[in-house]
Amino acid sequence: MISEFQPRACDPVIKIADIAYLRFGRRDVALACRYFKDFGLIESARDNGRIYFRGILPQHHCVIIEPARHDSFLAMGLRAKSHDDLAHLAHAMQATIQQSPEPGGGRRVELVDPSGLRVEVVHGLQDLPTLPHREARLANGPLARPRINRPQPILAAPADVFRLGHLVLQRQEFARNANWYINTFGLIASDVEVLPVSGEAVLTFLRCDRGADLSDHHTIVIAASPQDTYDHAAFEALDLDSVALGCEWLQHQGWVKSWGVGRHVLGSQLFSYHYDPSGFAVEHYTDGDLFDADYPTRYHPTCKSGLYAWGPDLPAHFIDMRPSLTLITAIIRGLRTRTEFSLKRLAAMKRAFDVPARPWVGRRFQRPKAL
Ligand SMILES: [Fe+2]
Repeated sequence: MISEFQPRACDPVIKIADIAYLRFGRRDVALACRYFKDFGLIESARDNGRIYFRGILPQHHCVIIEPARHDSFLAMGLRAKSHDDLAHLAHAMQATIQQSPEPGGGRRVELVDPSGLRVEVVHGLQDLPTLPHREARLANGPLARPRINRPQPILAAPADVFRLGHLVLQRQEFARNANWYINTFGLIASDVEVLPVSGEAVLTFLRCDRGADLSDHHTIVIAASPQDTYDHAAFEALDLDSVALGCEWLQHQGWVKSWGVGRHVLGSQLFSYHYDPSGFAVEHYTDGDLFDADYPTRYHPTCKSGLYAWGPDLPAHFIDMRPSLTLITAIIRGLRTRTEFSLKRLAAMKRAFDVPARPWVGRRFQRPKAL
């Protein structure tokens, strides 16, 4: 049976506090570590071949790199608000609470999402002292002039990365996966993208329910896709200079840029995307929207132009629909086994994304002829 997307749950199992960490498997751990240091993360521990990275904020780690035969995204960590929530989750999902054997400690419950991704819900992960960072830039403008006799310092360093902000997952079954995250973890749809003709929901930005306290516009994004895969993860940087100069720094070190710097429409973040050495996209962002739990869900037609308010033209590789053996195999398997997955929806999504985001890109100035 095909499930219908619901933007909020009446009675979720628990309401998570935030995303906690990402766990990547890498053939070349040393290379991955060099990338994430250039990205702006800081090593916090090593154990059993795994390397743990943190941001400036106190959480013990937000990225784990572990040796693997294939480059892969292994698991997502979510942070429970309390041990009682963890116990309630374990009981409701028929799982067990384990003491984490890893650096940072805490207790966790391991679940599997409807597409087979391991989700580790943790509580009690250790906090470390906050790390030093530069001051945020002061910006002079016509309405305020806070920077007097203080030229902007010239910076050449990795971005000041404070924390992991969100994870975007591509899923063959959009509603089934989105509803699972909403019903299990109390997430709220901040924005929903729908197909222009049918109105069918195909992407949602989900935020944590913290009541009157503020949450990021999105912590998890579920997007309908030809295959179940990691799309990108995003980390909050100090300010626009951190995003833009962090982007320069990565390229200076030989890493490959994906897209940016620009400003998103839904979520409003200033963004810059790069590829890690295994081809996984990673984003720096700053100045994202913050909502309380009362802010209503908004609906929009899905399209390329809705991805950014300004910035360089969206590169073709950002939404990669090129056929490959892996993709075709995934589509055939999805059509056989997934009730919600259809070629009709894929075709409708392709039509929506075939409309150029910026039709004027490439126009050249024609000098007027002299009279
Ligand atoms: Fe993002």
